[in-house]
Amino acid sequence: MTTIDLDDFGIGEGISETVVTTYNGWNPNAAPIGIMRKNDKVYVRLFRGSNTYRNVLENQLLVANVVYDPILIVKSTLHHLDNSDFNIVSYDKHGLAVLKGALSWVAFECINIKKTSEALVAEIIPLHAHVNQCRIKAPNRGFNLIIESAIHATRYKLTNDEKYLKLIRAYRNTIVKCGAEPEREAIDLLMEQLTKK
Ligand SMILES: Cc1cc2nc3c(=O)[nH]c(=O)nc-3n(C[C@H](O)[C@H](O)[C@H](O)COP(=O)(O)O)c2cc1C
Repeated sequence: MTTIDLDDFGIGEGISETVVTTYNGWNPNAAPIGIMRKNDKVYVRLFRGSNTYRNVLENQLLVANVVYDPILIVKSTLHHLDNSDFNIVSYDKHGLAVLKGALSWVAFECINIKKTSEALVAEIIPLHAHVNQCRIKAPNRGFNLIIESAIHATRYKLTNDEKYLKLIRAYRNTIVKCGAEPEREAIDLLMEQLTKK
């Protein structure tokens, strides 16, 4: 068996913010999820109630996609990906949904799943990995704040607390200044979706 060096696919120590895709055989799903890596053990924590949580309990598989497309990140936070955003690839008799727009992806098996009343924690073991594009990218504050804004968007949806909208509005200024057109489009899409009646 070949070992997969996760560093080669963009998943380093600490928490890597990826878009996790899961597949129940007919409906591919995508959601931003943090992949936690510590001393060569890798974990996910999935909150109860999400499609990702349900699919992982069903087939113990997930794919972590490394994505630098801010629109894909915002759309997957808000459940708006089209089936055409995915490729279905087969691996060892399983169908895996992967994102066409990913720079790289790693398919994982979920083991030692532990459930609490709020979430599950699973250790994840890499099965297969792929690189689509290898591009060097300098840190961009606009892009980083899209990730922060998307996290606050999920909190706002859970709590309706206006403080999250205020934070996103403040981040928007820096996103507009430091980001490129896709970041500007992504933050406007996020705000539009959060504030629409
Ligand atoms: C950057 C980012 C990281 C996130 N990390 C996690 C995570 O580690 N675990 C989790 O359960 N939800 C996480 N979320 C929230 C889920 O993405 C969100 O609840 C999503 O709507 C779930 O979608 P689903 O129902 O299609 O699975 C994260 C959101 C963002 C924006």
